[in-house]
Amino acid sequence: MPQSKQDKNIERSWPKEGVIRVPAWIYSDPDIYARELETFHYGDTWNYVGLDCEIEPGGYKRSWVGERPVLVTRTEDGEIHVMENRCAHRGAMLCWKNSGKAKDITCPYHHWAYNLGGDLMGLPFLRGAGGKGGMPRDFDKSKHGLTKLRVARRGGSIWATYSDDVPPLDDYLGPEILERLDRLVSRRPLRLVGYSRQIVDSNWKLYWENSRDPYHATLMHPFLSTFGILRTDGDYDSVPLQEGRHEYTFSRYNPELRNSTSEASRQIKSIRSDLEMRDKEVVNSVVDEFQDGMMGAFQVFPTILVQQYFNCLVIRHIILKGPGKHELTWTYFGYADDDEQVRELRLKQSNLVGPAGFVSLEDSEMLALMQPVVESRPDAEQVIEMGGHGTEAQSTMMTENLIRAFYDFYRREMGL
Ligand code: FES
Ligand SMILES: [Fe+2]
Repeated sequence: MPQSKQDKNIERSWPKEGVIRVPAWIYSDPDIYARELETFHYGDTWNYVGLDCEIEPGGYKRSWVGERPVLVTRTEDGEIHVMENRCAHRGAMLCWKNSGKAKDITCPYHHWAYNLGGDLMGLPFLRGAGGKGGMPRDFDKSKHGLTKLRVARRGGSIWATYSDDVPPLDDYLGPEILERLDRLVSRRPLRLVGYSRQIVDSNWKLYWENSRDPYHATLMHPFLSTFGILRTDGDYDSVPLQEGRHEYTFSRYNPELRNSTSEASRQIKSIRSDLEMRDKEVVNSVVDEFQDGMMGAFQVFPTILVQQYFNCLVIRHIILKGPGKHELTWTYFGYADDDEQVRELRLKQSNLVGPAGFVSLEDSEMLALMQPVVESRPDAEQVIEMGGHGTEAQSTMMTENLIRAFYDFYRREMGL
């Protein structure tokens, strides 16, 4: 067995085979991680930060851009602002409640107070006490507001960027993502259903790959294969967009196929004859609200995967917490005019996804088991050859084309 080289001796260059190999050091190298944050999250990208239905007028929610905590606020007249959740005085975190109402934002440390637009309104003892101390006469409050990010909205979704150069949000997303995003968040006012949150002890890219990996879906998730939610012999598209930056997948749920056996299903060991579904509503759209029979997911680089399972609509927000850790926030949503039946159904079907979801339980577990292994062999290489060597769209689940396309994009942006 070959000896693993010392980490410091590993050559930081991409394997000569190209994107059919991924070097394991990219999952743990702190320099790579720092460069990713600068290049992507703090660079020329639009980062998802939330939905408008999460914030009342005169309210706020916490979110993150890269590792940085931010506040998303909505003034009484409806304007949305995004600013760092970091006091302009000496860097205290201003707010650690997830959401709420506020007239202003007052720092808990020395009580500097900001309005919901992030401007510094006042600070205690500006002129000192008893004629002593205080801020210099030329201290200019207008120069000490919170760090503000550029904001863009599309339907009910809110996005932020540090960049002055990134293209407008609609161009950044592109027509295919816009069509899919609008289908879910732009046609009717949104309603928040709830959240799940989990810490995943793995590099964020392992999750990014996982959600671009239809190959594992029927193999690792017994629920999907046993109840025929995803069939390897059903309609499926894996489509990279903008040279690998974003992607979407498409599947059509066919209840007819649910119990049939095929050459493909015989290869799947996770089909379990001992599992039985008592409540069929979990996998049935009682309401065909989009009237297109479509299920599927899309990724918007670098922050979210948006997914629809029947009437369960959910955004997975990937928040970075260091090279070996990320947080996943699952935001479940519906529409303001949902009737009681649909509200119930969305809640019930939210059991499909999330940290303990029927179709997603195994992912974070697998990645947490993977992380120490990739860290122990940074010199090893992952094999990404399912579906060939190309990065073009394919109409099958048995492909890793979306992962190859992602690393094609990643290498260009990172100069690797
Ligand atoms: S750190 Fe916020 S007021 Fe001092
Ligand atoms: Fe999965």
